[in-house]
Amino acid sequence: MSHHNTVAFITGASSGIGAATARTLAAQGIIVGLAARRAERLEALVSQIQSDGGQAIALQTDVTDPASCQHAAQTLVKAHGRIDVLVNNAGLMPLSNIDQFKTDEWKRMIDVNVMGVLNASAAVLPHMIRQHSGHVFNLSSIAGRKVFAGLSVYCASKFAVAALSEGMRLELAPKHNIRVTCIQPGAVKSELYEQISDANYRKQMDDLAASTTYLEGEDIASSILFALNAPARMDVSEMFIMPTEQGW
Ligand SMILES: NC(=O)c1ccc[n+]([C@@H]2O[C@H](COP(=O)([O-])OP(=O)(O)OC[C@H]3O[C@@H](n4cnc5c(N)ncnc54)[C@H](OP(=O)(O)O)[C@@H]3O)[C@@H](O)[C@H]2O)c1
Repeated sequence: MSHHNTVAFITGASSGIGAATARTLAAQGIIVGLAARRAERLEALVSQIQSDGGQAIALQTDVTDPASCQHAAQTLVKAHGRIDVLVNNAGLMPLSNIDQFKTDEWKRMIDVNVMGVLNASAAVLPHMIRQHSGHVFNLSSIAGRKVFAGLSVYCASKFAVAALSEGMRLELAPKHNIRVTCIQPGAVKSELYEQISDANYRKQMDDLAASTTYLEGEDIASSILFALNAPARMDVSEMFIMPTEQGW
């Protein structure tokens, strides 16, 4: 499939799944807008993509700030005229038990994982609606399908992303020709676990990582590409992607 003049906006593109998705889409000729807070990481990825022959633009963005998302989307549209793909990927997972009352972490998770999806969507969807085409990918998780102890707030945020995805599909697909795909991975190798401030949960996650072959960011990126390349009549609305060895 030709992706000439296709433009993608990827949140959380400075590491993990987002960076892998940026590299994978750029290798297909898609122009990628890289949105995250760490500007130096974004610039390094832009250089890497350009030296591999792709096109990328760094968009320093805080997804918790609606104005920052609007500014990033406008910058991308000004540079490349359109936005065809939105990957709502930015997310945090600092694990803890409810009775530890880490209320700051709860707030940050809801702000990034839920409000971030809404803020980026509000910034990008008007362009897709104007174009009468687009494809939105929302990163939920296995934690958006089942609840795990220690992940209550994270699960609440990822269930919210799954619900939002289905609502977006119902409202946007038939009326505006915008496809919506909810991605629900199991364990993926990334920097996500570095956010865990609770020593016991951090050890638990490190032990799991040592005993299970996790997915790579590229596995999620290639799944995104698969859904993107599906015929226009076909919306891959959900993808549940698990490491073969993950039995939980
Ligand atoms: N790894 C897994 O096992 C797994 C499994 C299921 C689902 N997921 C989901 O996949 C997504 C990507 O996670 P990952 O595993 O790739 O983790 P990661 O390597 O930690 O990446 C998280 C990304 O989110 C960005 N981010 C955080 N706060 C932000 C903010 N306020 N504004 C803009 N960007 C922000 C970070 O960039 P900056 O710090 O530069 O802003 C970073 O690029 C998340 O939504 C996560 O919940 C991950």
